Amino acid sequence: MVSATVDSEADILSNLNINAGDWPSNLVKNLCLLSQDQIELGRMLVEMGQSHLFQQWTDPGVEDDKKKAFFAQVAKLNSSYPGGLASYMKNARELLADSKVGKSPYDGFTPSVPTGEVLSFGDDNFIKYEEAGVKEAQNAAFVLVAGGLGERLGYNGIKVALLAEATTGTCFLQLYIEAILALQEGSRRLTQGTFQKDIPFVIMTSDDTHTRTLEVLESNSYFGMKPTQVKLLKQEKVACLDDNDARLALDPHNKYQIQTKPHGHGDVHSLLYSSGLLKVWFDAGLRWVLFFQDTNGLLFKAIPASLGVSATKQYQVNSLAVQRTAKEAMGGITRLTHSDGRSMVINVEYNQLDPLLRAAGHPDGDANCETGYSPFPGNINQLILELGPYIEELTKTGGAIKEFVNPK
Ligand code: UTP
Repeated sequence: MVSATVDSEADILSNLNINAGDWPSNLVKNLCLLSQDQIELGRMLVEMGQSHLFQQWTDPGVEDDKKKAFFAQVAKLNSSYPGGLASYMKNARELLADSKVGKSPYDGFTPSVPTGEVLSFGDDNFIKYEEAGVKEAQNAAFVLVAGGLGERLGYNGIKVALLAEATTGTCFLQLYIEAILALQEGSRRLTQGTFQKDIPFVIMTSDDTHTRTLEVLESNSYFGMKPTQVKLLKQEKVACLDDNDARLALDPHNKYQIQTKPHGHGDVHSLLYSSGLLKVWFDAGLRWVLFFQDTNGLLFKAIPASLGVSATKQYQVNSLAVQRTAKEAMGGITRLTHSDGRSMVINVEYNQLDPLLRAAGHPDGDANCETGYSPFPGNINQLILELGPYIEELTKTGGAIKEFVNPK
């Protein structure tokens, strides 16, 4: 005689160590659809206070494919963040709580004006550094961060395809590529042909920009660059948060999908690190990595001279900044010194710089000085990093960069 036993729902729950009272009933009803891994992801979501995600789930047998797609998305979000989704939510909660009570990441730090080289376009000093920079370009790699949505711009296409010059019809991507190729040529000339390699060019894209960036490159024969010289690295998105408790936001058009957004341009560091490119560049004898953004048409007029400053002054980190009027909506490059001796030069967001200065005893806050500009120069996120020390720093965290939130 054959006897079969069918576990009751209560047995299943007890085998899985699930207390039904703590779990959303709509998820409990659908457990029969899920694999063991998916159940563990469900457990993580419940424990992290995300039960609302299941509020509108239907009974098993209805929309089951969408439920499976939901867990496939959760698995992807979980694996693409260092420490997983639980870690993402925990970090977000801490940052949002600090921000809610007005706790500044700069507490205990005193701001002062950082030192640096002031360059005036076209003068003798500028030309001296420019020449040094063109020569040094043979040791450089360029990285464009172009994964941003451009929501504030209100433009639907990718920003790098926008016109940078109306007379010639040149778009930003073309302008950048032609500038890098010109530097490559200039460097070859100045080194009398001893430098024959191609300058590497990396573009960080996201799901929002990847395909369209590739299309622009391919349909324009990479604007004269060798396709092998260009590498696209795609950043993953992160889950959107609905509130200060870091409740994950559902897509308003799909109750089985979590809304996602690009994570910010800081992802470029972990991507470069995990791709292995930094090591390849280092082993090939490169010395500098230059980061720049998607829509800055004047940038390459200053890049050679800035690289010359890095090389001449042996800067491990060089941040190219611009004149900035006081209180202008642009971050200010600032030196911060802590009473415990820590000191750093960092971008302080414009909405934080003025209160920071006032709290440090400057009654006028961020005010113009005798030059007619704020003494805190404007951050344009154009960084030149020395490759060796950069790799050393990233190795300490496996490429992860600390996040921040700045609700404005
Ligand atoms: P912005 O601060 O201009 O942000 O990015 P954004 O996302 O492009 O635009 P908004 O905020 O939606 O209006 C500065 C640079 O960082 C890149 C952008 O492409 C731009 O070059 N970026 C931004 C990324 O590469 N990834 C991101 O996740 C965000």
